[in-house]
Amino acid sequence: MKIFVAGGAGYVGSHCVRRLVAAGHEVTVYDNLSAGHRPAIDPKARFVEGDLADTAKLADVFQAGRFDAAMHFAALLNVGESVLEPLKYWQNNVAHTLNLLHCMQRHGVRRFIFSSSCAVYGVPEDVPIREDQPKNPINPYGNTKLAVEWMLEHSAAAWGLGAVALRYFNAAGAASDGTLGEDHDPEIHLIPIVLQVALGQRESVPIFGTDYPTPDGTCIRDYIHVDDLAEAHLLALESCTPGRAEAYNVGTGRGTSVLEIIAAAREVTGHAIPTLAVERRPGDPPMLFADAGRIRHALGWLPRHLELREIVASAWRWHSSHPGGYGT
Ligand code: UFG
Repeated sequence: MKIFVAGGAGYVGSHCVRRLVAAGHEVTVYDNLSAGHRPAIDPKARFVEGDLADTAKLADVFQAGRFDAAMHFAALLNVGESVLEPLKYWQNNVAHTLNLLHCMQRHGVRRFIFSSSCAVYGVPEDVPIREDQPKNPINPYGNTKLAVEWMLEHSAAAWGLGAVALRYFNAAGAASDGTLGEDHDPEIHLIPIVLQVALGQRESVPIFGTDYPTPDGTCIRDYIHVDDLAEAHLLALESCTPGRAEAYNVGTGRGTSVLEIIAAAREVTGHAIPTLAVERRPGDPPMLFADAGRIRHALGWLPRHLELREIVASAWRWHSSHPGGYGT
């Protein structure tokens, strides 16, 4: 298929593009490089430097590309920033997605895979989280992801869009050959921060809260390998049916605490990794992990990277060989 990929130079996007290219798809990456990295783009993909705000450029690319499908990874993802600057998040994550959907409608592109998030659930009533649980985001970031899911449902009903929203849990790890990985500026995610401490780039890992109602007092999350996320996109693409909007959790179904991540990183790196217990981070739900039964049954998706040490080891291969990210 001919596939338009917004945000294909970012962390999850670049891993997916590599997987799409390997499967024989013809990929056009559209990325403004505000958070993505030129070297992360698979050399077999076509690259257009562009912004989803630039509707004229977008229309030109769609006119020339004759795409069968679009995937959309281009979003802002800093939850704390979304609380301080909500309009920036509504602009980037919702208004720009609207531009893309308008363009798809005009050009008759009916398949759309969207990077959603477990942040749509807010503080879940129950874990593991099923897709039919109430969606009550607790920050603007989660609200923008949910708003896009609504646009997809309405578009499926009104003009025959086929859409799959993949609700990622915590994307983690890196390509097995160590050539693609996570490079955010500023870095806010746990595993890269832990590995930056191992590299001596930070003094200690702040542990945001040690008094949560969890077995060791730290927050529990579901860390899903980025290559498993990429595989979910391929299956979603094949399943995408005009007129239907689906949403699937993409997680391992297993919860891991902050302390368990740090322990795994100590084993993998052989470094002490000092920590510092600090206040809870506002808006952090104590426990999030997926019931991934729906995607398993509907698409046959199964995560392959279940061993926590393996996930952390793949991230370590990337960080230790690229201590300055893609700039090194
Ligand atoms: N954490 C620390 N210290 C740190 C960084 C994180 O203790 O320095 C803790 C957090 O409090 C949280 C866990 O580690 O309990 C994971 O935090 P991350 O920031 O790595 O990821 P989040 O769980 O906050 O991820 C959330 C949603 C995702 C969403 C992402 C966007 O779960 O769906 O925010 O950034 F995509």
